[in-house]
Parts: sequence; structure tokens; C-alpha cells
Amino acid sequence: MTEALPPIPPGTLPIAARAPGKCIVFGEHAVVHGAPELLFAIDLETQVFVRPATTTQLNGDVDAVPRHPYFSRALASVWADGPPIDVRAVSRIPRAAGLGSSAAFVAALVAALGSATGGIDRPTLARRSFQVERGAQGVGSPGDTTAVVGGGFLAVNGGPGAPLWTVEDGARQWEVRRVTDPGWVWVVAHSGIPRSTADAVRSVGERLARPDGPSLLAQFREVAEAGLRAVERADRSEVAELLSRNQQLLREVGVSHPRIEELLRAAAPAADGAKLTGAGAGGSIVALPAPGKETELVRRLARAGGLPFVVRPAPEGAGLLEPPR
Ligand code: MEV
Repeated sequence: MTEALPPIPPGTLPIAARAPGKCIVFGEHAVVHGAPELLFAIDLETQVFVRPATTTQLNGDVDAVPRHPYFSRALASVWADGPPIDVRAVSRIPRAAGLGSSAAFVAALVAALGSATGGIDRPTLARRSFQVERGAQGVGSPGDTTAVVGGGFLAVNGGPGAPLWTVEDGARQWEVRRVTDPGWVWVVAHSGIPRSTADAVRSVGERLARPDGPSLLAQFREVAEAGLRAVERADRSEVAELLSRNQQLLREVGVSHPRIEELLRAAAPAADGAKLTGAGAGGSIVALPAPGKETELVRRLARAGGLPFVVRPAPEGAGLLEPPR
């Protein structure tokens, strides 16, 4: 039976909402070109607080609409005729780090505004959030917005069972399916190098347009499909091996970075496997700690200059924050 994810219920302002960040285990970049991706929502989150105001503003900035494309596109998508609002956003997700900070901001804001306009079901929240993020970035797949709306482990364009929902952008359609969480602890670490997702996606698109592009894309697909099956079987050694193979492909398409490589070297003695996560060209790594070596892994990454976080899959996607009782 297909899992029914709860809708965002109707509410009245003020409304507070939250959404988790995300971590891509296999298939970033290739997913933009239709290949499978496996990712999970992480237990670092963004919260937004929305209340009526005399002038629309974001964190006190009354010029946020022209300056902040994610904010302005979210308003245009779900609040076009709405009265002025004061939006405050707070986040534990590092920005421009490949951990889903923009998707979480968009999904939390669309959830809050969707609630204030009569409620919103989850597939619509996922599609709207994707349209907003895609509109602001110009390129990309619905992977990030899917993860932060769906929660837990999810596959895009792969995985078992019936789709939870599909997302279309005219030229392409992506299917979203639930994947069983193997129950592991993961470590992500930000390199401190901010990057532009749009630039990285464009440069990989150019790389994949070269004559060996189709064969590279086929290898991304093969690794992600094998990774999905290995995660479903909770086969750590196979997942570890596939993380290294995926990293090698990401190097070949030019989105690793010297700081990412340093973090991967620092992680190696305490990790079963590791790779960059997200758009790369800076950003973050994800590592599967060797059992019992979680603390050593975090220490090694911090000593190498990274900003590490121990993360677990957050089972719940975007939702409303309950008012205090
Ligand atoms: C970015 O988090 C993941 C990419 O695959 C882009 C996307 O899917 O939108 C690089």
C-alpha cells in the first residue's frame, strides 16, 4: 500500500512551520538528467514564523522581495494576493553547503503560507516547493525539495513500490518513492567553501554533453541503482564501496574540490565510506562512520577544518510547529 503522508492543515496567521535539511547519498547531478537519486531528510532544520505586518519583510529586511529570489518566488506562488507579512527564519542548516538550506526555507515557508490559504496536501507542497526553488535557481531536480517535504529516506527515479508522487517540469518527470531507512548514523561535514548549485549543475551538464557523457551517466545510474538496493538490504560494506565509486564519478565530472578531498582523506581511517554530498565544488561531504568510531570521525573532520554534524534521518518532512500549550 502507498504511504499516505499527512497534509498541512488549514490555519490562521500567525503560523510557524519547519522543514528539515537533506543529505544526498547517491546520484546528485545525475538526477538532473533523469538518473536515480537516494537521499534522506536530516535532523537539522529551518523554522519560519509568519505573522501579519504592515510591510512585507524577511528577518526585518523590507527590501527582501527584490533581493531574495526564494522568498519572492514563494510569495508569488502561494501568497500572490495575500496581505503584507513579517517572516522570520532561523536555521541550523549551514547555507550554500549542499545540505538543503534553500529547499528547507522554501518548503517551510510554502507550508506556512499553504496552511494560511486553506491547507496544502503533500504532493502539492513538494511540487510548489520545487517550482519555487527551480525558478530561483534556474536549473535542478526536485530531489532536495522532495526530501525536505517527504522526510525519511527517499528515492527519486528508482526504488521499490508505487510512487508517493511525481513531479514534472514540462520536459522531464521524476517519480518519488519511499526507501527503508537502514537505521544508521551518518556524519556530514561542511568544507567551509560556499558554492553555487546552479553553476555546478550547468558545468556538469556541459561535461555530460561531451562524447563520453552518456557512458558516464550510465555509470552514475548503475551506482545509484546498486546503492538503492544495498541500502534496502542494509548492506554497509556494499554501500561503503558504492560511496567511493560515486565520488570517483563526481571527480570525473569536475565537482570535487581540494578541500573536499582533504576532508575525505581525514575521514578515511574512521569511516566505512564517504563522498561529497550535494552540488559539490565546495560544500559538504557525507560519511558512514565505522561502528564505534563516530566521535573519532567527528574529531578528525573538525581537525581538518570541517564543520561536522552527526545526523540521522528525520522521519518527518515539512510541517507546522505546534503552538506552545
Ligand atoms: C543539489 O543539492 C543536488 C543537485 O543534483 C542539483 C539538483 O538535483 O537540483 C546537484
